[in-house]
Amino acid sequence: MSEILALDQGTTSSRAIRFAVTGTGGLSPVATVQREFAQIYPRPGEVEHDPEEIWATTLSCARAAMSEAVVAIGITNQRETTVIWDRASGAPIANALVWQDRRTAPACTALRDAGAEAEVTAKTGLLLDPYFSATKIGWLLDAVPGARARAEAGALAFGTVDAFLIWRLTGGRVHATDATNAARTMLYDIERGEWDADLCRMFGVPMALLPEVRDCADEFGATDPALFGRALPIRGVAGDQQAAAMGQACFAPGMMKSTYGTGCFALLTTGAARIASGHRLLTTVASRFAGRTHFALEGSIFVAGAVVQWLRDGLKLIDSAAETQALAETADPAQQVLMVPAFTGLGAPWWRPEAQGAIFGLSRGTGRAEIARAALQSVGYQTRDLWEAMRADAGALDLGVLRVDGGMARSDWTMQFLADILGAPVDRPAVTETTALGAAWLAGWQTGLCPGPEEAGRHWALERRFEPAMAEAPRAAAYARWRRAVAATISV
Ligand code: G3P
Repeated sequence: MSEILALDQGTTSSRAIRFAVTGTGGLSPVATVQREFAQIYPRPGEVEHDPEEIWATTLSCARAAMSEAVVAIGITNQRETTVIWDRASGAPIANALVWQDRRTAPACTALRDAGAEAEVTAKTGLLLDPYFSATKIGWLLDAVPGARARAEAGALAFGTVDAFLIWRLTGGRVHATDATNAARTMLYDIERGEWDADLCRMFGVPMALLPEVRDCADEFGATDPALFGRALPIRGVAGDQQAAAMGQACFAPGMMKSTYGTGCFALLTTGAARIASGHRLLTTVASRFAGRTHFALEGSIFVAGAVVQWLRDGLKLIDSAAETQALAETADPAQQVLMVPAFTGLGAPWWRPEAQGAIFGLSRGTGRAEIARAALQSVGYQTRDLWEAMRADAGALDLGVLRVDGGMARSDWTMQFLADILGAPVDRPAVTETTALGAAWLAGWQTGLCPGPEEAGRHWALERRFEPAMAEAPRAAAYARWRRAVAATISV
């Protein structure tokens, strides 16, 4: 039986998941290896990763999960995170600037004040925010002595994490990315499907740095035989949120998924139609197959699972993430503690990089349980913000159900609250490893072992549907209170 190895390089850990291809072209996970790596916080609002650690953890996971039966590799990754390395030595010139890093907020404000946002949005579907790669590249080129001149001379390479891993895996032979990752750089024209020279000029990015952009299911070279004892083809690449949408089989217009990892990212597939958001959502590339681009509306929330990590590592309220739900269940129903977890600013639909977190409704009786409940509920409330914006933008597309995945989707309590606050059903699939599944499916499709997008949906299976159980009046009151809390947080 053939197997496919998915490499899922996320914000806090690297993972390798090996899937067996079933008789009907489905994919079934058989082995998972995961390694966490260091988060580097030089100053408030700054987040870095050591690219060598990204590589070392990825390689060791891949080696540990590898088998003789593996015939192809798919890659999926934290998006936007920016790596620049030397083409000759392969050595990074600095730490990676992580998607959460806000240090380039002043550069974004200056460009916005100069009236640049309309052109950026028209070409890229994005908003001028430090979240995306473009201003991070400019910052690195200015911060590292000599880097700009070396970049202009073609001596350096830029990549989001996928491109960096492809470079390392192929022994420096391939410098390529896929259209979903390119779409997150703020340098890529999503309609024309190419790097945009004017945007590169605007952000001070020499085009000699940029990788070639390929389809999601495509040829990305083969691994250096020194790594796994043989050359393995890399045949699928997608940013982790787009890969999760594929793993959730959200291919038809109107289908929507929300992934709860470090952050939360909701994608609404709009098909070949590019819908411009009137409500501060992003328009992004959902996939590119055989040169044909499909689009999605995206709502990006920067803190979801990270709030539970903060309860554990920052406040030391819990020993493990799994305890949060049990604690939340014991919270006093009479207390209305509300948390706005704007630890790295606020993403969609607010886009306030300078915002900082806040907790409302504290009383003398407030304890760990109420804080834990507020943390979990903040994820539901933020998703409702996205849901409202999506509904307003979606026009004729009918948003009936939300498909969920990612670590927090395993919490029944959190998913029930999500259904309650949305007032809509929430579907959790049998395989919640949707990100890795999407990457494996791309490689499986490109090798001819798995069916294409038209048929992939029949392999999706429901594990549990959460139906809304809250009455309309308390739902409306709770959500109105959340909106007031966000407004207060932003205005402080
Ligand atoms: O845009 C950032 C996103 O791709 C990170 O995803 O799963 O690492 O939180 P995750």
